Amino acid sequence: MTTKFSKAARGRLTDKDLRRFPSERLFDRIGRAVVSAGCLPRRELYEAWEVARRVRRRFRGGRIVDLAGGHGLLGQILLLLDDTSPEAVVVDPAAPKSAPRVQQALVSVWPRLRGRVSFEPGDLASFQLMASDLVVSCHACGRLTDLVLDRATDVGARVGVLPCCHHLESGATGSLGGWVDGPLAIDIERVMRLQRFDYRVWTQTIPDEITKKNRLLLGAPDRPVP
Ligand SMILES: C[S@@+](CC[C@H](N)C(=O)[O-])C[C@H]1O[C@@H](n2cnc3c(N)ncnc32)[C@H](O)[C@@H]1O
Repeated sequence: MTTKFSKAARGRLTDKDLRRFPSERLFDRIGRAVVSAGCLPRRELYEAWEVARRVRRRFRGGRIVDLAGGHGLLGQILLLLDDTSPEAVVVDPAAPKSAPRVQQALVSVWPRLRGRVSFEPGDLASFQLMASDLVVSCHACGRLTDLVLDRATDVGARVGVLPCCHHLESGATGSLGGWVDGPLAIDIERVMRLQRFDYRVWTQTIPDEITKKNRLLLGAPDRPVP
């Protein structure tokens, strides 16, 4: 009996998975690179890719700031998709010990990434952002996503988040909880909050075979990026 390959699996990508990434397309090349690192949970590859390509369809350039970034794969794929971004900073006080291995694996295939990706082991609440930044965050748990949105709107930066782990007790549901389920109410309230800051908003999803927490929220100030 063959078991179906699950893109949502949290097991690590290993050499056994190489055959899944056979082509010279960018996704397969990234897949082969992270397989060689031998430490990346499978789901992170698919998630980061699906988020990054949707973000790049809307937003070009800018320093990339991957908040609560973990391995920082999202920030690095954004760099690969648009070389006009000068650098990516991954902010996470507890990034996995294996993050440098993933970075090294990517640099060995794309030497142009060398020196353009840095890891900041601090709290995202205190990282200094700029209006020209492209702020992203994938699975910043619960209220952490709200903090990401607050930090981005404070400086008027473009932002893309894939929220997760909605905390129904602490999350703002904007009185919508009687009509739609709690997590959706929280995400709709996030949309409305960005709009109150005069942001233009795009609501999208990534394939739910990767994650059920698949709502992608993109926002940009309704004025030219500095
Ligand atoms: C669910 S993981 C997501 C990691 C990565 N973005 C991904 O999608 O694989 C949440 C991350 O948030 C980080 N984190 C928790 N509190 C944080 C904070 N105050 N500032 C920055 N990162 C934080 C954790 O260390 C963890 O790596």
